[in-house]
Amino acid sequence: MPNIVLVGFMGSGKSTIGSALAQRLGRFLIDTDLLIESSAGQSITEIFAHFGEQEFRALESKAIAWLGANVRNAIIATGGGMPIFNDIRSLGEIYYLQSDFDTIIARLDSVQRAKRPLFDNESSARELYRARAEVYAKVADHIINANKPKDEIIESILADL
Ligand code: S3P
Repeated sequence: MPNIVLVGFMGSGKSTIGSALAQRLGRFLIDTDLLIESSAGQSITEIFAHFGEQEFRALESKAIAWLGANVRNAIIATGGGMPIFNDIRSLGEIYYLQSDFDTIIARLDSVQRAKRPLFDNESSARELYRARAEVYAKVADHIINANKPKDEIIESILADL
């Protein structure tokens, strides 16, 4: 079976929904940020600080090639920029978790924001959100309203499988 690939802006719930979906479907979950962190031996924040965003995008690109060649029948929770800088269509069926920016702001506390170098400033994050929304929608096979409670989001995805 093809992978279920979750895309969307930071804080749209990709990891949380991915983990619940994996349990529900008995499938393996891969979170691309965690994959990159474990293979680099550094956190995302450290990778950005030591090597810069461009190098992080190159690591994402390598992760896509590896996942495309080796992983089937899994749930893949992507980092928010992954489909912006790379073509991810080889990874599987793409579900865009569409959350409004205000929903995202309400979800991400200061600890959650601190883990995300591109979320250190709310107004530039809002600009990034505006610039990216169209790209997510374009690459998606399915657009899921992710402003709802977690259980309803999961039901929407299951209904589309
Ligand atoms: C990024 C999103 C992050 C992480 C990195 C860059 C982005 O993942 O990959 O900080 O460019 O949107 P989450 O979407 O899981 O926060």
